Amino acid sequence: MTTPRNDTFLRALLRQPTDRTPIWIMRQAGRYLPEYNQTRARAGDFLSLCKNPDLATEVTLQPLARFKLDAAILFSDILTIPDAMGLGLYFSAGEGPKFERPLREEWEIRDLTAPDPHEKLGYVMSAVSQIRRALDNSVPLIGFSGSPFTLACYMIEGQGGTDFAETKKMLYQRPDLLHHILSVNAQAVVDYLNAQIEAGAQAVMIFDTWGGALSHAAYEEFSLAYMQRIVSQLTRFKDGAEVPVVLFTKGGGQWLESMAATGCSALGLDWTTHLGQARQRVGAQVALQGNLDPAIVLTDPDTIAVEVAKTLAQYGTGHGHVFNLGHGVNQFTPPENVQALVEAVHRLSPAYHLADILPA
Ligand code: CP3
Repeated sequence: MTTPRNDTFLRALLRQPTDRTPIWIMRQAGRYLPEYNQTRARAGDFLSLCKNPDLATEVTLQPLARFKLDAAILFSDILTIPDAMGLGLYFSAGEGPKFERPLREEWEIRDLTAPDPHEKLGYVMSAVSQIRRALDNSVPLIGFSGSPFTLACYMIEGQGGTDFAETKKMLYQRPDLLHHILSVNAQAVVDYLNAQIEAGAQAVMIFDTWGGALSHAAYEEFSLAYMQRIVSQLTRFKDGAEVPVVLFTKGGGQWLESMAATGCSALGLDWTTHLGQARQRVGAQVALQGNLDPAIVLTDPDTIAVEVAKTLAQYGTGHGHVFNLGHGVNQFTPPENVQALVEAVHRLSPAYHLADILPA
């Protein structure tokens, strides 16, 4: 077993005592860091950066060189899976992701298959093992994937930023077709995440960015059921260590109980949910990760410290909390503010863990 020297993040996810609250930041490697923009320029574009394991390793480590973060997250994207399925992913400047060949015809949907993660996605596995070597057991590495439903939204719409009209029409008119896409995606995610774990990912997170756009009934049937299938098929122990699984449905605050019942280790929360109330609802079953509004990190160090204090107080004393933002860090965030955020969590969180470190 190769426990990282700083295993606070893994311990918190497994609801074990820690002497402070660990922190990492969604999209911690990204456009708010000048060194990221330089490396991306060297790569040519975002997708070439993802597909180059040396450069993906370099940008994964950039935020860790600046800030005392408790975890690294693989630098990649959730859309690597549909790209490997042949849909032709590209990023046009300033417009976000697009697909050359979105799913339009029934035969295209019937032809869809889960990609072998070692072939078309081999670059991701190379990045994972290279990042693990570079980290040298300092902090754990998080692997990730999109949820089957969130991936399906992009595959059907062909881009983000829509109101999911095509996906939702299919959901109500041809649920059989959507279920087929979701089954293939679920298999693809299981294979992809298990390959990441095999290559060295020590925790995995499933990003269900668009699950919150579904009706109550549709969420259970079209998003949660497939995440549950994935959770039950993931490798949960590797080299004698438990591999925690985090589920994050953005806008999913009303479904925490059913999410916790999937058997995952932790839930990611966006900023619309009260951390203390969430803990009361599910706290004994899973750890919680979140949930500072990313807009707060656009302000100033004093305001950030005040809001960090409120977030820690909301969760309250004891273990089982991983500090994070409620969604990805905004690209216009000053890096000094991220520094202030990390420092505030280091300074203010030990007071909430006294019972963890003192004998009863
Ligand atoms: O958290 C991390 O540091 C790991 C890296 C990561 C990226 N994308 C890098 C990225 C992760 C975990 C993702 C996940 C992802 N990608 C999600 C789920 C999480 C979420 O944010 O809801 C989604 C929906 C995507 C799809 C995607 N990729 C979009 C919508 C965009 C455009 C975003 C934008 O702000 O323009 C991307 C591009 C992307 N993925 C960037 C980064 C750093 C910016 C690309 C660039 O450098 O130009």
